[in-house]
Amino acid sequence: MKKQGSETVLNPVRTKEDLLFEDSLRPRNFKEFIGQENIKTNLKIFIEAAQKREESLDHVLLYGPPGLGKTSLAYLIAKEMGVGIKPTAGPVIERTGDLSAILTNLQSKEVLFLDEIHRLHPSVEEILYSAMEDYNLDIMIGQGPSARSHKLKLKRFTLIGATTRAGRITAPLRSRFGIIHRLDYYGEEELQQIIQRSASLLEVSVDEEGARQIASRSRGTPRVANRLLRRVRDYAEVIAEGKITVKVAHQALDMMEVDALGLDDVDRKMLTTIIESFAGGPVGITTIAAAIDEEKDTIESIYEPFLMRIGFLERTTRGRRATPRAYQHLGYAPADSSSKPQGDLFKPQKK
Ligand SMILES: Nc1ncnc2c1ncn2[C@@H]1O[C@H](COP(=O)(O)OP(=O)(O)OP(=O)(O)O)[C@@H](O)[C@H]1O
Ligand SMILES: [Mg+2]
Repeated sequence: MKKQGSETVLNPVRTKEDLLFEDSLRPRNFKEFIGQENIKTNLKIFIEAAQKREESLDHVLLYGPPGLGKTSLAYLIAKEMGVGIKPTAGPVIERTGDLSAILTNLQSKEVLFLDEIHRLHPSVEEILYSAMEDYNLDIMIGQGPSARSHKLKLKRFTLIGATTRAGRITAPLRSRFGIIHRLDYYGEEELQQIIQRSASLLEVSVDEEGARQIASRSRGTPRVANRLLRRVRDYAEVIAEGKITVKVAHQALDMMEVDALGLDDVDRKMLTTIIESFAGGPVGITTIAAAIDEEKDTIESIYEPFLMRIGFLERTTRGRRATPRAYQHLGYAPADSSSKPQGDLFKPQKK
């Protein structure tokens, strides 16, 4: 499996083993799902209310950057409701018939988990509208003038949609979700707890400071925290009899070129390119992607949200701009914005 762009801790080619590793660490109940307190409180109330009325849970849309727990939450919701879950994903459903088959096979109250829901084909998406709203499936039988429309009644199911790109969800689809939640980056203490829980599941010894060190470089993301823990564990096994202390964590993470803020090679390459080749920006995302040989989508979903979150990157109408904080972190003299002409006259020509 070869893909464009660099393979880094943040964006590796995911093997079957990686997926199994991830599954093995998934929280098994709401208590084990650390953080996102507001979302959990809300969901628990909605679930309890639905159960009291013996109804299906309203449709749920979960969005936010990758690795923050959308899939994990979807499974927890189904578990808490005591119902089955059928997972699928936007790009997998090629024809309306595929979706019809899935929908007609759903049991009452069952969860249909639709990952990457922003990538649904428009004609497939249209079928979802009445399915979600009145549990009706409109299917066409035959073609041309003799085609007839049939209505099929569906069981009352729950759709849980997940996406990293909420902006790409159409208004009609969005309006059919009764419960919408945005997952946010995690704090260091929460990540530390996640690391400690994962370490005990993996039977790895990590002390408090060691866990904190990994947490601080996990860019607010549980998936990254778990991945770093796994790599640090390997390092610890070879050089420190398997014990993860702050010193061991430090050394291992430095070796992996994950810096103190959790930036990796690609983050740095992206910022350095904006600073050196484009005078700090603004520069369009497509130009950046081409300059550093990464996919635009990867930059937009994985790298950019975190760089914006820590105030290293700004989005303007004319493109992305590196902030003074980014200059400082990467060891550049501050960009002299006061003397820079508004029209970017002195900027190098774009490649
Ligand atoms: N709140 C949490 N508490 C403990 N572990 C978590 C939490 N959120 C996520 N994780 C862990 O992080 C990993 C990634 O989570 P998950 O797959 O649910 O993210 P996602 O938001 O669905 O990502 P993507 O957008 O890439 O599909 C899982 O292995 C899970 O164990
Ligand atoms: Mg997911």
